Amino acid sequence: MTTLLQVNDLHVQFPAPGGGLLNLRPRKVNAVNGASLNLSAGQALGLVGESGCGKSTLARAILQLTPSSSGQVLFDGSDMRQGNRVDIERLRRETAMIFQDPYSALNPRQRIGQILAEVLQVQRKVPAAQIPARVAELLGLVGLRAELAERKPGSLSGGQCQRVGIARALAVEPRLIVADECVAALDVSIQGQIINLLLELRQRMGLALLFITHDLGVVRHLCDRVAVMYLGRIVEEGPVAEVFDDPRHPYTAALVQSIADIDPARRLPQQPLAGEPPSPLQPPSGCAFHPRCRHALPQCGTGMPPSHAEGGRYHACVHPRLPC
Ligand SMILES: Nc1ncnc2c1ncn2[C@@H]1O[C@H](COP(=O)(O)OP(=O)(O)O)[C@@H](O)[C@H]1O
Ligand SMILES: [Mg+2]
Repeated sequence: MTTLLQVNDLHVQFPAPGGGLLNLRPRKVNAVNGASLNLSAGQALGLVGESGCGKSTLARAILQLTPSSSGQVLFDGSDMRQGNRVDIERLRRETAMIFQDPYSALNPRQRIGQILAEVLQVQRKVPAAQIPARVAELLGLVGLRAELAERKPGSLSGGQCQRVGIARALAVEPRLIVADECVAALDVSIQGQIINLLLELRQRMGLALLFITHDLGVVRHLCDRVAVMYLGRIVEEGPVAEVFDDPRHPYTAALVQSIADIDPARRLPQQPLAGEPPSPLQPPSGCAFHPRCRHALPQCGTGMPPSHAEGGRYHACVHPRLPC
């Protein structure tokens, strides 16, 4: 399979909140702190991790919506961090994002038809005369009636709005869709419908999908591979079933155990994940997970953990296999 997206050692820093004039050495929030991942054409990669670990920042930095301070973002082999205007235009034409809040992602003053038509015009996807037919087709693709083109977002349900968000992403005819917590704001029954829609569209159109969520059950249903993020880094990556059934990083193991409904037969954790995730303002030394890790060794607090890559799986830990 050809690699569509390759992220190497990416760093994104924000100025720390509260830094004033007297702050001579302004502190930085290391929101993404050396993240690396790969996504093949047509593949769905789930990106999971606790709130604040840097998932949204990583997504935005991949799409060049947030500046990154170092690393590489290779899209189809070209580094978009060093990209010129033509590269960035191509990135915009070939990628699309679906957001968490379907209402605020749509302009409330525009009719649904206008929202979709605008994308088609800007991206010059079809001749002007064919735009209304394409708008109707896009609405059909996401299971909405063509009449909805006349309505404004305020008169639609959350699920309908998210379908419009997906239609807008599809209007770009992207090779990669980044969906950031795109079902988190919806009712559970509607979540299932949207996930099934994404699954169907993915199979039909061969889209690559970077699917950000804290819901591991959804990842298991929708994705081929999963990347587990902790404090700005990917700590484990691999095929979904293998990672969930046989986690190799202690953080993945703790996450999987804490989600009882992935496998109702699995017993609840005897030692659930202790403590809060640390602050990206002052990441712990060595392996960032070591203060919460029940398998930590003395050296985990000093050196970076070694990487293990084997049989399509990756994890970064002092232990080559999860200790019992
Ligand atoms: N625009 C910003 N300015 C300053 N700090 C930010 C900004 N966006 C995110 N952060 C910080 O970066 C870290 C990662 O945030 P985020 O990427 O939103 O995590 P996630 O999506 O995994 O919940 C958090 O500590 C957050 O407070
Ligand atoms: Mg987020």
